[in-house]
Amino acid sequence: MEKLALFGGHPAIQAENSELFNWPIITEEDEEAVLSVLHNRTMSGTEITKLFENDMAQWLGVQYALGFCNGTSGLLSALWACGVGAGDEVICPSMTYWASAAPVLTLGGAVNFADIDPGTLCIDPEDIEHRIGPRTKAIMVVHYAGNPCDMDRILPIAKKHGLKIIEDASHAQGSLYKGKPCGSIGDVSVMSLMTAKSFAIGEAGMLFTNDRMIYERAISYGFYERTGGSSEFFKADNYLTYPELVKFSGIPVGGFKHRMHQMSSAVGRVQLKSYDARIAEIDKAMTYFWDNLVSIEGLKPHRADISVGSTMGGWYYPLGIFDHSKYPEGTLNLICRAFQAEGVSICTPCKNEALHIHPVFQEHDLFRTGKPTMISFTDRDVRQGKGSLPHSEAVQSYAFGVPWFKQFVPEEIDLYVEAFRKVFGQIDELL
Ligand SMILES: Cc1ncc(COP(=O)(O)O)c(C=O)c1O
Repeated sequence: MEKLALFGGHPAIQAENSELFNWPIITEEDEEAVLSVLHNRTMSGTEITKLFENDMAQWLGVQYALGFCNGTSGLLSALWACGVGAGDEVICPSMTYWASAAPVLTLGGAVNFADIDPGTLCIDPEDIEHRIGPRTKAIMVVHYAGNPCDMDRILPIAKKHGLKIIEDASHAQGSLYKGKPCGSIGDVSVMSLMTAKSFAIGEAGMLFTNDRMIYERAISYGFYERTGGSSEFFKADNYLTYPELVKFSGIPVGGFKHRMHQMSSAVGRVQLKSYDARIAEIDKAMTYFWDNLVSIEGLKPHRADISVGSTMGGWYYPLGIFDHSKYPEGTLNLICRAFQAEGVSICTPCKNEALHIHPVFQEHDLFRTGKPTMISFTDRDVRQGKGSLPHSEAVQSYAFGVPWFKQFVPEEIDLYVEAFRKVFGQIDELL
């Protein structure tokens, strides 16, 4: 086998073809959409965002969509809309981006972190039910890196205990769970639409629900301009029907302004038209890549079970799962170093870390009550120490980023396949 570049051999990838990875794809139509917002001076308006919301609701097959300035604000609103408040608990996987969990703290609640399944990197359904306590309000599921959670096992648990399911579908725009779009399965869902995501339109987020009360509560929390109120400008634009919300019209009850920038919504409308076709191309490329690597021992793709009609959507953040059980600690780091030398810079250990051991969830005192935020308004301490959620804590020893191909160009993808064979074929030499 060819000598590894790390040891002086020729790198497998001499120069990366940026066309293969560029994202999002920007055309003149996107540019014109942005310019028209600028020329019409409608950057802070809502009319384009409302059209975009309609487009997105139709695309996902849900009744309501609400456009946010980012995904984090959407998650905060979804949590509040589901009734999460001071002293309440939310069950959430520990290994995810912090925004799936941290807004619970903003509301005075506590996060009861569950472990992940090391194959799917999603919340382990086995680790949910025993965490439910008298103040548990919701389960936050994260379709991590586009891979749908095992909703058939999670939905009955939520139903049995009267809990809301919030789907963080920030990685899963276009992913299907057994044929159903991720983001349309729980009580409410949120997608980050920031530029790194597979549906990428700038700083933006979208909340989806079929529940009118959740929709109105999310509006009441951070969209004062849609609550009527006294100003002439907004009077006609009243989305609220529930008297308990109408009485607060004019001021967002959450004290925030959450609306989407219209340059983002204008781009979103254009991007949506091509989105399904573009992610089909990604799926073809990623499937080709992984299908050519099945023979590598100890390496598995992080991907959905297509035999049951589940898909990876836009394959946001594709990952490989390395069977580290037979190797010494640090082996994945070495493998990633070898990939760097081969010119495959994307191969680094999983970029998200276990959250439950982070000081923000252990000791920070947000409300200055003299106690850590997590126990500010409760007697039940759900904090967990090191060693409590092993699969989340070990993620960087078994999950690592792999190339995210946006174009199906087999002869170029083959070069990466060869690089993978080369590195994985020489782990013993690396050690
Ligand atoms: C899983 C997950 N949830 C939420 C967010 C937050 O979205 P935003 O960055 O748009 O606030 C992100 C963003 O990276 C994410 O990866």
